[in-house]
Amino acid sequence: VSERSAVQPGAEVLVASNRGPVSYVLGEDGEPTARRGGGGLVSGLSAIGPETDAVWVCSALGDGDREAVRRTGGLLDTADTGGQRVRMLDIAADVHAAAYNGIANSVLWFVHHMLYQTPVEPVFDADFRGQWAAYEAYNAAFAGALADCASPGAAVLVQDYHLALVPGLLREVRPDVRIAHFSHTPWAPPEYFAMLPDDVQRQLVLGILGADRANFLTQRWARAFMACCERALGGDCTAHWPRHDVPSVIAMPPDRKAHRTRIGVHGLGADAEFLRERSRRADVEERMAVLREQIGGADRKTIVRVDRTELSKNIVRGLLAYRRLLADRPEWRERVVHLAFAYPSRQDLPVYRDYTAQVGRLADEINAEFGTADWQPVVLHVKDDFARSLAAYRLADVALVNPIRDGMNLVAKEVPVVSDAGCALVLSREAGAWEELGEDALGVNPYDVVATAEALHTALSMPAGERAERSARLAAAATALPPARWFLEQLRALAE
Ligand code: F6P
Repeated sequence: VSERSAVQPGAEVLVASNRGPVSYVLGEDGEPTARRGGGGLVSGLSAIGPETDAVWVCSALGDGDREAVRRTGGLLDTADTGGQRVRMLDIAADVHAAAYNGIANSVLWFVHHMLYQTPVEPVFDADFRGQWAAYEAYNAAFAGALADCASPGAAVLVQDYHLALVPGLLREVRPDVRIAHFSHTPWAPPEYFAMLPDDVQRQLVLGILGADRANFLTQRWARAFMACCERALGGDCTAHWPRHDVPSVIAMPPDRKAHRTRIGVHGLGADAEFLRERSRRADVEERMAVLREQIGGADRKTIVRVDRTELSKNIVRGLLAYRRLLADRPEWRERVVHLAFAYPSRQDLPVYRDYTAQVGRLADEINAEFGTADWQPVVLHVKDDFARSLAAYRLADVALVNPIRDGMNLVAKEVPVVSDAGCALVLSREAGAWEELGEDALGVNPYDVVATAEALHTALSMPAGERAERSARLAAAATALPPARWFLEQLRALAE
């Protein structure tokens, strides 16, 4: 990072998200080094590229980022960002922690993914109220920065549950700009959303309804959002999903002018061109050789999963289903290896640390129970390595994607594109990707480990010809809306 002062960019197009396209790690010498950010949102938005001249506004997440902001004044060096203009905000660390870990990850993520153990949680007490105040401050900081950077009439694309209040706040100070909000997660059904305190529900939906367009990954999440608006706002809104027109919600709270928000569905797809090129490089080939060693015999089949170690990804039940398969179908012993890549995530939260440990323990148990001198049934990798993930995709006979609930799930879309011989996809019906891939995937109820074990058996037993045909159709469906088009489609819809 070079030392230079901040430049205030006047932008026609702005993107706002908590996590940006790069984050910085501090070396022992105190120097920050840029690393590409992870997750579906970053993969989708990375395709906007420098050519759109958009400014991407994001938050500093750790000490490395804060040091980079200190040195650059917040407008990151484009040498670090691949040419993308990025403005990183240094929001006070305690405010960010309460908003991100407290509200975004522990409340909103849990609500939209329906993760609460409801007999004992959630409890919305004074601590929650303190965190909620931080969430408001954090959203206000984004709205302020966007208001400063946007040219008159600019298009502002706000991302995800971290920033649900931003559209409403920004509209108040900059009624000239066009605002879209995109939810990369599922949206909770109204009865579940109704767990949140009434005023919080109202603030969240009115925040998003400050946008001209509220966009979702699937129809299912869009409809759930509209139902939540109706339930939370009662007579202060009307929602319509006409058969031949764009759905919309009109909010008319007593203290504000009525405002119509159009609802959009944009199903982010995989980037075939990038994935095919990247997965043919030497580093991927090297990792394939290592994985082949770990798999052992050349005729062994491979079940692959790649996830953040995230509660909603359902890794534990995936391993239980694999254990069931080995117990109920002994013919697969020594003939299959489960490559399970589970990259630690959100380790600041104890429940995520416990879950990560549980995944490791279960993998060890399965290996102890079934393993032999030259067969390790589960090969668990926890160090995030994109080249190794691609290597596993290429080797996959079966991909296991069994989330409890997921906005889309890009792994389900990426594996069929990359796999060498075509893979069978075992896919949760609760993943957004199911809406697009359901015809050729083997659908599972993610809670049912017996049915998931059976689906794994069917997938492993599928004749090679059928598997290749299904995989080709899956790859075509998965790449129907690649990231660059996905982004441009939203910009175009916002301009209409
Ligand atoms: O699913 C939406 C999303 O924004 C993903 O892009 C990302 O994987 C996750 O939520 C957020 O993860 P993190 O808390 O690591 O930024």
